[in-house]
Amino acid sequence: MRKKLVVGNWKMNMTRPEAAACVEGLVRLVGREDVAVAICPPYLALDCVQYLLRNTSIALGAQDVFWKESGAFTGQVSANMLADVGCSYCIVGHSETRGRFGKLEVAESTLGYFSETDETVNLKIKALLYCSISPILCVGETLAEREAGQTDEVIASQLKGALDGIDGSEFREGVVAYEPVWAIGTGKTCDTAEAERVCGMIRSELSKIFDEDTANSIRIQYGGSVKASNAKELFSQPNIDGGLVGGASLNPNEFADIVKAAA
Ligand code: G3H
Repeated sequence: MRKKLVVGNWKMNMTRPEAAACVEGLVRLVGREDVAVAICPPYLALDCVQYLLRNTSIALGAQDVFWKESGAFTGQVSANMLADVGCSYCIVGHSETRGRFGKLEVAESTLGYFSETDETVNLKIKALLYCSISPILCVGETLAEREAGQTDEVIASQLKGALDGIDGSEFREGVVAYEPVWAIGTGKTCDTAEAERVCGMIRSELSKIFDEDTANSIRIQYGGSVKASNAKELFSQPNIDGGLVGGASLNPNEFADIVKAAA
């Protein structure tokens, strides 16, 4: 039985005082033992949020990582640094960091600010697993890919590339987040039946990459305009094991209601 997991991805929001106020609100509202909850603040707020979460069941996560252990990599943060600050999770391959088109004008309008590829996502996952941090691997299609009927093919290829050379026994605690790019921050949520279909397809791809038992142990989240009003229906689907929540995680009351919807 997979325990549902609800993760708040704050993206580039919250100064440390704002983060502290939000976490104090959350700690009062969230504490259910039957749902796993994590918050992914910006790097600069990790330490302060970790301190405020230290006696709670809410876990800490990061939004990205660099795969090298240390050295001359200006601006980067390694997996062992994330482990040191207390992270249990780390998002990788988010569509806001992928750069499948390599064109700035596309990056500015939709995605791809940081030119992440399946290969770099793979290196990041390996670095995280080495430090016992659970990766939250984001996959998902753009609107153009969906309209061209390529959704399943794009996602299968992202999974294959990102999980290449990884042993199933290491990824059992890993998470895959299905995030249709066109649903992120747009208010347009993927239809529940379609989200469940794609998450089921992801599980079947995971059983080809690993094996059925491992695929059944991996949590698959849905992300993309999750709100308190749509969370219950999404999270009640057999292959949707919780959500990766962006905008709605910035409001403690809304996020707490989303967590309750997963119970
Ligand atoms: O990581 C979270 C996702 O990108 C979803 O963001 O809930 O603001 O649509 P959103």
